[in-house]
Amino acid sequence: MKQFTLVTDLDNTLIGDNNSTLELNDYLLPNRDRFYLIYATGRSFDSVAHLMGYFQLLTHQSLLTPDYLISSVGTMIYDRSYPDQQWNHHISKDWNRSEIELITNGMAHLKPQSQQNPWKLSFDLTHDQPQEFIDQLKQLLASKKLLCNIIFSNNKYLDIIPHLANKGMAICWIHNQLDISNLPTLVCGDSGNDIGMYEHNFWGVVVGNAQSELAQWHKNHPSDRILQAKSNYASAILEGLKHFELI
Ligand code: GLC
Ligand code: MG
Repeated sequence: MKQFTLVTDLDNTLIGDNNSTLELNDYLLPNRDRFYLIYATGRSFDSVAHLMGYFQLLTHQSLLTPDYLISSVGTMIYDRSYPDQQWNHHISKDWNRSEIELITNGMAHLKPQSQQNPWKLSFDLTHDQPQEFIDQLKQLLASKKLLCNIIFSNNKYLDIIPHLANKGMAICWIHNQLDISNLPTLVCGDSGNDIGMYEHNFWGVVVGNAQSELAQWHKNHPSDRILQAKSNYASAILEGLKHFELI
């Protein structure tokens, strides 16, 4: 019987300081059957596989195998290697990627990344007033009735994804599929694409090394549900698990 769900971002949350990750692993392994583990990342499935392999190569130990992988900023959900096609069907509603792409194509401050998918347009944003640029882009797309979520991370990445998708909505989808909405859930992250996870009624940890956009968001949305960790990277996850008395 599972007692809680642990959701964690990968880059600069679970991963970033190998000693902390290994220490957390030691803590979690003996308890692994007590919780669902979900990784929620901006990376694609292939890129996660690469990252996990790299971690193993460096440390001679494996990352824990998650029960589910939410990848590509919440646009894909995997059960082992199988993408959840119903999720993709669901988030396709009111999603007009090609129209959005036509508009963003001509924008000098948006440099397309290599990591794209049918539900995710990703760019490096090269504007010295990024928030102003994003506000204008939001207005422009809204004026054309192009529904979407615009997500800014690490002060440089800009993702445009369906309005029904982000990491938090993907967690809710898994909860509904498994009928486990009643289980306590702890979400852990460091950057803008994690904000969607804190917008639900979950417990949350913001790692000590959080990016400014998440730290700022947390300042504007103070809550007992969300712990600003003193520690960094995976140590912050452990701090959160103890703080909320999950372990
Ligand atoms: C990951 C993805 C990238 C995305 C970024 C922020 O780095 O590879 O496409 O823009 O996360 O969400
Ligand atoms: Mg991250």
